[in-house]
Amino acid sequence: MRTSTVLLDRDFTIGQTDPRLFGAFIEHLGRCVYGGIYEPGHPTADAQGFRQDVMELVREIGPTIMRYPGGNFVSGYNWEDGVGPVEQRPARLDYAWFSTEPNTFGTNEFIDWCKMSGIEPMLAVNLGTRGPQDAGYFVEYCNHPGGTHYSELRKQHGYEQPHNIKFWCLGNEMDGPWQTCAKTADEYGRIAHEAAKIMKWVDGSIELAACGSSGRKMTTFGAWEDTVLDHTFDHVEWISLHTYLNNYASDTPAFLASPDVMDSFIEEVVAIADSVAARRRSKKRIMLSFDEWNVWYRTRRPREARIIPGWPVAPPILEEIYNMQDALAFGGAAISLLNHADRVRSACIAQLVNVIAPIMTETGGPAWRQTIFWPFANFTNFGHGEVLRAKVTSDTYDTDYFDPAGMDDEVRTKVTGVPYLKLAAVHDGKGGLTLFALNRDLTGEMRMEVDARGMTNLSLVQATTLHDADLDAVNTKANPDRIVPKPLDAVTIAGAHITAILPPASWSIIRLKAD
Ligand code: AHR
Repeated sequence: MRTSTVLLDRDFTIGQTDPRLFGAFIEHLGRCVYGGIYEPGHPTADAQGFRQDVMELVREIGPTIMRYPGGNFVSGYNWEDGVGPVEQRPARLDYAWFSTEPNTFGTNEFIDWCKMSGIEPMLAVNLGTRGPQDAGYFVEYCNHPGGTHYSELRKQHGYEQPHNIKFWCLGNEMDGPWQTCAKTADEYGRIAHEAAKIMKWVDGSIELAACGSSGRKMTTFGAWEDTVLDHTFDHVEWISLHTYLNNYASDTPAFLASPDVMDSFIEEVVAIADSVAARRRSKKRIMLSFDEWNVWYRTRRPREARIIPGWPVAPPILEEIYNMQDALAFGGAAISLLNHADRVRSACIAQLVNVIAPIMTETGGPAWRQTIFWPFANFTNFGHGEVLRAKVTSDTYDTDYFDPAGMDDEVRTKVTGVPYLKLAAVHDGKGGLTLFALNRDLTGEMRMEVDARGMTNLSLVQATTLHDADLDAVNTKANPDRIVPKPLDAVTIAGAHITAILPPASWSIIRLKAD
């Protein structure tokens, strides 16, 4: 059995997690909205058509912020189509997903749904087919108290009080050739700068996220962030990052190493943002909004996997079925986010329901938890607090099929020195300590020895592990509990020393309490 050691010190911290680190994403895409969170006529739907079975699972996860309405969808979206009397709303062609958008669910329904679930809304404006003026009108509609065209329109629509949306995204993936009205970094930087000015004139209390690269694979990555932040630095608080991990190579060791790409990506974006600040002799620090992250590859290519001909309403696209090893890679990504809590202050799993999601539904039928539901729920429920700077000593492995871009199947390389143990440790400030541990050894148990300096009389609160001998096992409607966390029995504690035996290929959490 391999042994890994972990040294923690209560005083050595990376930073306090921001509540917004634990967010998710709802896009008008496939069955995420229609048949996902919203399905009038469903046996569990309330008067507004919100599925309560889905709502219950969402509450179990407890996401803190919800990004909406896209995604690629937003770059062709007229927000006005989704407000006001439902019978007067137009159906439109959605250029992003080649489907028909009925607009029976829109901004106000989204805000109501967020209120009901206790989640902060995050809105994106369309900087593809539209521009700064429309973005300003949207902020006016949502946040202006009254006495103007759009604020009065909101009142006519039944919302007397402003929604007070604080977090706004300036478009989506504007560097991607697939994006409706994609832009060069200069084109986007200029329009984002002007949109930001107007949006903040309308409401000076909002925070804005500029689009970073769609992924580390983009040939413009790096230069894009540099140019965009040059244009927008004084007007934005955030820059976005997106990563979808993949197992195109069908190589599990490489796949489980892939979350480490997110560590590099984050550190590179921090370096670029801080170099823009340095050029200005500015102490301002741009924070990172990792507003799309997940595993996604089976329903990503070819195009036929994403598009159903005939412009259908809510087609069942991007319905990725996650297996056991996807949950492990996903857990590794959550650890990467925690270990950069000082700069990644906002993040959204993409997406929430049906579309590359932890929650699946059958239209008219039940809802169930995918394998990735479990590491995500662990992350959102127990990840809040001060992340400790863990010193991990672990055997390492090499892999031939590492994807350095985190999103591409053409570029593969050899990587050496991947530690078998990937770990984050979070102290909740009230004596609670949670360890998040990914054992990447596929065949062997791991003895994990943890020294938690500065914490006395530790006792065990809960320890669970997600592990299955079949790494391809999935949860389905017929067998929704095939992959669920089980108790991790092999944990012993002596003072401030913890010993745990982690199963091979497992994601575990160990929750402790100190005096
Ligand atoms: O989450 C699915 C899609 O992935 C989003 O619409 C887009 O932003 C990204 O390319």
